[in-house]
Amino acid sequence: MILHRDSFGIWSLIAKRAFKAVFRKPRQREARHEIRESLSEREIAVYLHIPFCKGICTFCPYVRYPLRSNRLLREYLGALEREISLYGKLLSDLNLKVTDIHVGGGTPSLLEGKDFKRLLGALNEHFDSPDTIAIEANPEDLQRKEKVSKLVEAGVREVSLGVQSFSDGGLRKLGRRHDSSDSIRAIENLRDAGLDYLNLDLMYMLPGQELEEWTRDLERAAESGADEITCYPTLVAEHCTAYKLAKAGKLELRQPGMRTFKQMVYAAERVLPSHGYEPVEIYGYSWKDGWKYATVNYELEGPLLGFGCGACGFTGGYEYQNTCSVEEYIRALGKDELPVAGGRAVGLAERAVRYAVCRLFVCRELDLHGFKRKLGEDFEKAVGKGFSIALHLLETLGHIRRKGRKLTLSRRGLFTAHLACWSFVLNVPCRISEEFLKAPWPTEVRIP
Ligand SMILES: C[S@@+](CC[C@H](N)C(=O)[O-])C[C@H]1O[C@@H](n2cnc3c(N)ncnc32)[C@H](O)[C@@H]1O
Ligand code: SF4
Repeated sequence: MILHRDSFGIWSLIAKRAFKAVFRKPRQREARHEIRESLSEREIAVYLHIPFCKGICTFCPYVRYPLRSNRLLREYLGALEREISLYGKLLSDLNLKVTDIHVGGGTPSLLEGKDFKRLLGALNEHFDSPDTIAIEANPEDLQRKEKVSKLVEAGVREVSLGVQSFSDGGLRKLGRRHDSSDSIRAIENLRDAGLDYLNLDLMYMLPGQELEEWTRDLERAAESGADEITCYPTLVAEHCTAYKLAKAGKLELRQPGMRTFKQMVYAAERVLPSHGYEPVEIYGYSWKDGWKYATVNYELEGPLLGFGCGACGFTGGYEYQNTCSVEEYIRALGKDELPVAGGRAVGLAERAVRYAVCRLFVCRELDLHGFKRKLGEDFEKAVGKGFSIALHLLETLGHIRRKGRKLTLSRRGLFTAHLACWSFVLNVPCRISEEFLKAPWPTEVRIP
């Protein structure tokens, strides 16, 4: 078996049927107008994308390119500052407050402390925004204590570290450029530098992986003292290297079966809480104060401004995707144009379902009072009949429990939520990246 977009049975069908979207290339004036006028709240999150890596991992489905020259990286960072400034001017009179800044990729840890200082400076110049930042990092970039200290001094206070596995054989299967000792050194360096919060990303369902190996990874991660541990099944998007190699007959790609998948999900649910971690998402477990490296809530619920090549943003009423070509991204900003390659309006019903799905199937709990506060509408009215019926069915089957105005995911519902979540990821965001990677400025992109 492989975890491909068609491998989730009924959930693959639901993901394709329930979510249909058409992105169209907007004119400059239209993009500016839509983004400005559809911002539904004053508090926003910001995401910056760094689309470069030292090499490309076998299963990576993201918008990323091998870093070929430092010059290109410098030009890119200049363009990123120009994009921030364009948005700053466009939205200057809206009294926006940026509450969170996340930098993802690709590999943000390719940058130095001074680069993050500049990016924070650009954000601070144009927005009421914090002077701290959360970044994704690769272990091999955090081997020098001095570099790590400079990152923390520059304002990097939360790090999501891509450990993936403590098994060197597993890391080789993923095509990673670090080994487990690099991960341990990176964790030590971050702690010594006084980082506030550390998340470790782990991947499971590696080809040939057995349950025991995964359980050992979970134990090792729990012993590291990280503030949060997130566990991702290895998804196989059609544009990743592994899928292309397998299709060409150059790689035998076989992941553990569905039964093992389920056992691996419940292994995380058993091992991490036994070390004091609390579930905060279906794949995330937090130590003590419930802190999490939160990006999914912003992507699904908004408002989120996305900056950078391949970044997407969601204002609450409008979803947009920046061009996935680095050269075109730099060129557009050289002409003071927003690099938006596609956009689409998002109505209340879709927004309501995105919020409900995020809270219930990702964060494990949906508070209907919270829903009304965020959306300004009653739940049943906003989500529509079809979604309400589906929830009732899941309640009858014991996957969801209802207590007053709160819906929670049951232990039985946990695996169902995993199936729903990963089939959605493969059929929607992965497909959006796949399509936008084909051309810098497509006239139209239809999902699925
Ligand atoms: C945006 S990625 C990039 C972070 C960083 N460049 C790295 O690789 O460590 C964030 C996380 O996605 C996860 N990931 C990567 N490839 C994946 C795949 N094919 N399926 C599921 N998760 C994946 C990894 O755990 C990774 O740390
Ligand atoms: S998984 Fe991370 S390091 Fe590997 S290619 Fe993707 S973004 Fe780059």
